[in-house]
This record gives sequence, C-alpha cells and structure tokens, in this order.
Amino acid sequence: MEKERLMESARNSKSAAYVPYSKFPVGAALLLQDGTVINGVNVENVSFGATNCAERTAIFTAITKGYRKGDFQAIAIAGDTEDFLPPCSICRQVMAEFCSPGMPVYLTNESNDILELTLRDLLPYAFTDLEM
Ligand code: THU
Repeated sequence: MEKERLMESARNSKSAAYVPYSKFPVGAALLLQDGTVINGVNVENVSFGATNCAERTAIFTAITKGYRKGDFQAIAIAGDTEDFLPPCSICRQVMAEFCSPGMPVYLTNESNDILELTLRDLLPYAFTDLEM
C-alpha cells in the first residue's frame, strides 16, 4: 500500500480519538505484512498518566489480534499540527519491541506533506533486549 493511502487511513481514524482533556486528536494506521491495516487513536483519562497514544493503541490492537514481531510493515501518524507530528518516546520504545529498526514511520503536517523516517531515525541505540 502506498504511504499516501496509509496516511489517509490515519487521518480518517483521528475523528474517533477520545480527547476531552487535550482536544488533541491523533490517529495512527499500522500496516501489517499481510496487507491488513489496523488503526489506533489516543484514548485519554481524567488521570492524565493513564492516557494511551494512538500509536500504542494500534500496536496493542495488532498484538491482541495475534500479530507479532516481523509482522509490522509501516506506521502512519496524523494529528492536526502545523508541523510534522512525531511519536512520543514511550511509543518509540513500544515500536522498538515489535518493529524492525528499518521500518518506515510516516509523519504528516497540516499541508498534508509526508515525512518518511525509520524507527532507527527516531530511536537510535534502542534498548531492545535483556540478554547479558
Ligand atoms: N499523543 C498521541 O496519541 N500520539 C503522539 O504521537 C503524541 C501525543 C496524544 C497523547 C495525548 O492524548 C495527546 O496526544 C496530547 O499529548
């Protein structure tokens, strides 16, 4: 699937975000190796720390459906920001658990430009395993 279509899916999913506190909706579209697209939105909580970002919602939904490391092809993230909206550091760490360092991460801005990065660009020297 082309990155434009994946990003469109991320943008469309944004309307389901539960954001009564920040009013900052985010949508993510996760492309699996089998072509399936799984969406995620941010889900906030009155106890702010309990909030789940759009990217993690999408990844955790994929895990719930039985997908695992090796099944992830790309992720697109869309918000209503003027500049490219990057994933937070917790989401980067969750991506590092399941996605390859070379996996494309697509960001967008209010002009609908698409910035293509890799997970490695976003999280160099990632902590990925506990082997000693
Ligand atoms: N948020 C995301 O869902 N993804 C990001 O990449 C950045 C931040 C959410 C968390 C919170 O609901 C709101 O955006 C403001 O931080």
